Order: sequence, then structure tokens, then C-alpha cells
Amino acid sequence: MEIKNICCIGAGYVGGPTMAVIAQKCPEIKVTVVDINEKRIAAWNDNDVENIPIYEPGLSDVVAEARGRNLFFSTDIDSAIEEAEMIFISVNTPTKTYGIGKGMAADLKYIELCARQIARVSKTDKIVVEKSTLPVRTAEALKNILDNTGNGVNYQILSNPEFLAEGTAVEDLIDPDRVLIGGDIDTTKGKEAVMALVDVYAHWVPNERILTTNVWSSELSKLTANAFLAQRVSSINAMSELCEKTGADVNEVARAVGMDSRIGSKFLKSSVGFGGSCFQKDILNLVYIAKSFGLYEVADYWEQVIIMNDHQKKRFAANIVKTLFNTVSGKKIAFLGWAFKKDTNDTRESAAIYVADYLLNEQAEIVIYDPKVKEEQIYADLDYLNSRTEEENRQRVRVVKDPYEAGKEAHAVAVLTEWDEFKTLDWKRIYDDMLKPAFLFDGRRLLERRTKEELGFEFYAIGS
Ligand code: UDX
Ligand code: ADP
Repeated sequence: MEIKNICCIGAGYVGGPTMAVIAQKCPEIKVTVVDINEKRIAAWNDNDVENIPIYEPGLSDVVAEARGRNLFFSTDIDSAIEEAEMIFISVNTPTKTYGIGKGMAADLKYIELCARQIARVSKTDKIVVEKSTLPVRTAEALKNILDNTGNGVNYQILSNPEFLAEGTAVEDLIDPDRVLIGGDIDTTKGKEAVMALVDVYAHWVPNERILTTNVWSSELSKLTANAFLAQRVSSINAMSELCEKTGADVNEVARAVGMDSRIGSKFLKSSVGFGGSCFQKDILNLVYIAKSFGLYEVADYWEQVIIMNDHQKKRFAANIVKTLFNTVSGKKIAFLGWAFKKDTNDTRESAAIYVADYLLNEQAEIVIYDPKVKEEQIYADLDYLNSRTEEENRQRVRVVKDPYEAGKEAHAVAVLTEWDEFKTLDWKRIYDDMLKPAFLFDGRRLLERRTKEELGFEFYAIGS
């Protein structure tokens, strides 16, 4: 079965970059990305390709190459579904904020809406690919809806989890460690569907890196991979606190530990805490699934990774308060960075949000500079917590376009995101403009202690 038309529902951080790369690598396949958010689609179609809604290094070039050739962005979801032989679902699956499983289970309402729309519109057989991060057994639910509401159309459901990391999405898509495709491999139709998707990726991914499994293994592999990665970060962050008490340095420990080839050097960077749309959500999913099978020890084991992460964010904020003579009330604290990591404008679950919330509860004034995050996003992130009124957030938090303005007359500067540009700021100028003593808190181990202390800063870095 040869795929000529692909539709992707959801033009976000996953759907956008993934489809752009598929379109770039498969010029003979027409790829249409659809979304209910008109503003987002308009931004993807903006004449100036630098205005696309997602910031990822290299993405605008890929979009510029394929857009209008075989890559299209549209709000006409029905037509795109009807035309396509293969439909990717890349809609958001946030943690439930209500009802059973509140704060833990994934909210599948957007997925279900997509399934019902596909069932309503489809006149020909479809391969439906789940791309969003989903709890195990979602494919089954999808199949159930499609088979029972469709009009005799045949559906094959595949699980094709996304392993791209934001900030390196294009690189990760072009040169993936592996592509995982789960399907109904025990039936001929299922195998055909799996092979159809293998053929798409085989345009640029070597065959030995394309793995095929059954659907459940594929779904669970995604949750497991993210849980393992997050666990490494929480493990090194746990050590960072011990390092601070004992005089050890967490970077030195991480280096020594990481050189053990059985352990490896990646994901051992101590930080103010992991963020992003996946880690916390996926672990919560895992915990929820484990509990629902009565596996309480398994659930507790993984939940501790999140507890440690929450502790790390809180600890960083509490240390600021303690260092500033036990009060930040009315004091100006400058934040460098708001995104959950560098090279992305995504702020979901960013540690900065929680550190800011803690300091605002202590009545601090916060001034934020981030090179890629928009002011409205920062206010939306704070408003979402419901900790204070929207007016208060706007009174007490200011967003600026210049890092030097942020530092002006601040009692403290805190680095929350590891943007490269922060390393080469004119730190003398920042120091001169600050109130004294000038405190500098490095939540990312980004800055060199020696040069900052020489300038006169009171310097604190996670893990030393
Ligand atoms: C993650 C997975 O890496 C990716 O495979 C999956 O598809 C989606 O979830 P992402 O959340 O985009 O990707 O970014 P990632 O690079 O994994 O970082 C997650 C968080 O951990 C960030 O806040 C990052 O700053 C933090 N982190 C990462 C650390 O604090 N230390 C590290 O050593 C690595
Ligand atoms: P992710 O990181 O998983 O890509 P995003 O929130 O960036 O998450 O993107 C998900 C996109 O899916 C959003 O742009 C949202 O508008 C879109 N979306 C959600 N539900 C639907 C739906 N039923 N039909 C079309 N698009 C949808």
C-alpha cells in the first residue's frame, strides 16, 4: 500500500515539525496539517517563515522548502481527513484537571473528538496513527470508537510515539536513534499498515533503526523512555542537594559517574528541575496505570521522580528567600529565561513558573527576560495556576525585551533557562546596575563561578 496523502490533526510542537520533515523527505507525498486553532494555522502560513508559531532551530528552513509544494497548513479538517490514506493524531493530551484521575490520568477528550470526526467524515479505508503521548491502551479506545461509529470503513490503528526533544526537534527527526511503529502485526491488514508507515520513514531513516512491535509495547515504550530520562534528572538533582551540604560538586560527580559506559553521560545535568510537556505527564500516566492494576509499589517508585522534581524547584526558590535575609517582600528579582529548556519557546511545566509562583507568594516583584517567549504566554502560565488575581500578576510581574533592563536595580538575578546568550552577557554591566549585595542564582549551572565572584557577585549554583 502506497501512501500519497497524509493528514495530521494538530499543528503543535509535535505535529508541526514532524510533518515538515516528512514533507521535506517525501516530496511525492502531500502532507496537510490541520488544526482548530485558526491563529496557529495563520502563523504557519505567514509569508515570513520566521513567524511560524513554534521556535525550533532549523525548522523555518524546512518549512520554507516544503510549504506550498507538498506541505500545507489548513483549518479545513474534514477535507484533509477525506483525502488522506493515513491520518496522524497529534493533538494535546494534558493531564486531567477534573473528575476521576484528576491530576494524574491523561485527558483523552481531544483524541476522542478527533476519532469521532474521522469516523464521521471518512468514506475510504484509513490508517490512523497515534502520535500524541498517550496512556497505554489508547489505541484500543480509538479502534472502538472508529469501528462502532464509522460507516463500514476499515481502520488500522498504529502507535508511532514521538521521541523528538524540543530544541533539537529537526535534528532528532532527521537523524532519529530509532523510529517505533506499533501495530496489529498478527494480521495481514495490520502488517500492511505497519509497512506503509515503515515505507514513509524509510525515505530517510535506515531500516535497522525502524522498529516494529505490537501496539501495547509501542505505547508503553514511550512512557518508559520518558520515565527513565526523567528519573536520571531527578537522581542527579537528588545528589545536587547532597553536594551542597558536603562540599562535593555535582558537575564533577556527574562527570565521574557518566564516564562509566554502563551509565553514560547524557541526562546527568543537574538543574532547577525538569519541565516540558512530557516528563511529568508521562510519569503521572504510568503511576495512574500502575495504581489501576493495584501495583502500588510500582506506582510509588515512579511517583518519587516527580516528588524529587517538585522539591528541587521549591528548594531553589526557598534558597533565594533565605539568602536574601529571609525576605523577598517588595524586592525585585530578575529572571533570565522562562522556557523549560533552551532553544524552544515552549513553557509547559517550566520550572520558572513554579519558582516565580513561590517568590510571588513571598511578595517579590519579578522582572522576566526570555529571548523567545512572548509576554502573553508568561502571564497565561501564571494565571493558569490561579494563585492570585490576573491583575496582581500583571502588577507584580513585568516582562522585558532586554536582559540588562531586567537586571537594573534588582536585588537578585536568577538563571532559569540555559540559553547560550546568557553566558556572554556583559555581567559587569549587570552587576553595576544591581543593588548590593548583588546576588546571582544559577539554576542551570550555566555560568562560571570564578568570573562572577571576581566581579563581586554573591554567587549560588545548584549542586555546589
Ligand atoms: C522529552 C524526551 O527527551 C523526548 O524524547 C520525548 O519525545 C518528549 O519528552 P523534551 O521534554 O522536549 O523531550 O526535552 P528534554 O530534552 O527531554 O528535557 C526535559 C527537561 O529535563 C527540560 O526541562 C530539561 O532542562 C531537563 N533536563 C534534561 C535536565 O534538567 N537535565 C538533563 O540532564 C537533561
Ligand atoms: P504537542 O506538544 O503535543 O504537539 P500542542 O498543544 O503544541 O501539543 O499542539 C496540539 C494542537 O492540537 C493544538 O494546536 C490544538 O489546537 C490542536 N487540537 C486539539 N484538538 C483538536 C481537534 N479536535 N482538531 C484539530 N486540532 C486540535
